[in-house]
Order: sequence, then structure tokens, then C-alpha cells
Amino acid sequence: MNFKYLSYLLLPFLLVSCTKRDPSPYVTYLSISELMQWVIDPAADRIWDSVAWYSTLKGEKIVAPSTQEQWDDLRNSAATLMEASNLLMIDQRAKDSGAWNDYAHNLGSAAQKTLLAAQAKNVQAVFDNGTIIDEACEACHLKYAYFDKKKTSKP
Ligand code: HEC
Repeated sequence: MNFKYLSYLLLPFLLVSCTKRDPSPYVTYLSISELMQWVIDPAADRIWDSVAWYSTLKGEKIVAPSTQEQWDDLRNSAATLMEASNLLMIDQRAKDSGAWNDYAHNLGSAAQKTLLAAQAKNVQAVFDNGTIIDEACEACHLKYAYFDKKKTSKP
């Protein structure tokens, strides 16, 4: 057998060993449900609660951060949400490598815009991006979360 023929025989094995990935270095301390309840949901709530318009008998009342500390808190919640979107995409949590990551990216990008709006102290932009964050949550839940609930409720 000449060397050329041998290298054809070895090629598939070489390819397999090249594409084999190292095990993921990440440790998933929280389940998806815990990550949602303890990290993502509280951060989103702080963003949604930070800005609001109320109609009262005395006219319109606007709730918005007023001190630098409150603006910084809002920025910090946006930062938490933004980076938490990456936690959804690590191998052990991602349900697939397509739509799941798109939904997580949508959440990360809406949170990033909220962070920039908080830094610019732009109340309207915080409110508008809050709506986009809400849509990003719902879109992923419609595809994956309600399906999960049905699956886990089976006897
Ligand atoms: C990339 C997909 C994805 C995105 C984006 C996402 N979620 Fe979830 N969420 C899930 C999945 C999947 C579950 C179901 C987890 C389970 O039951 O195991 C879930 C469950 C939840 C739960 C219920 C947890 C429980 O077990 O009681 C809450 C609350 C929640 N999400 C809040 C949010 C909020 C708020 C956002 C947006 C700021 C968000 N999620 C964005 C995938 C996502």
C-alpha cells in the first residue's frame, strides 16, 4: 500500500478528531427555570418598574429615575439582563443552535439599548425598549417554555 492510499484511508479519522470539541468549560449552577426566576425576571422587573405614566385626577404622573443612583440601578439591571442573555446560549442550556440563540440575541440587544438609554437618561427610550424586551421574552416562551410545561406535566 503506498502512502497516498493510506492517507485517504486515514482522512475520515483525521477529520473526526479535528472536529471533536473540547468539553464545555461552563458550569450551569442554575436550571433555566431558576435563571429565569432569580436573575432574568427580577432584572426585567426593575427595568419595567423604573418608568411609567399614570393618569390621575390631577393630570399625568410620570415615574422615572431622578437621582444618579436610580439611573445607575437601572443601568445595572440592563447590564445583568444583557449578559444573562449569553447564559441562555451556553451549551448545557441552549435547546438548539438556531432559533433559541436568535431569541436570546434579541433579548441581549434590547437590554443593550436599554443600558444606553439609561446612560443617556432618556426616559422614552427606556420605556420603548422595555416593550421590546417584553416581546423578546414572549417570543421565546411561545416556542419553548409552554412546550416545556406541557412536556413536564405529562404523567
Ligand atoms: C431564549 C429563550 C428565552 C428567553 C429569551 C426568555 N425566556 Fe423565560 N423561559 C424560557 C424557558 C425555556 C422557560 C421554561 C423553563 C422551565 O420550565 O424549565 C422559561 C420560563 C420563564 C419563567 C417561569 C419560570 C418558572 O419555572 O416558574 C419566567 C418567570 C420567565 N421565563 C421570565 C422571562 C423573562 C422576564 C424574560 C425576558 C426578560 C424571559 N423569560 C426570556 C426561555 C426563555
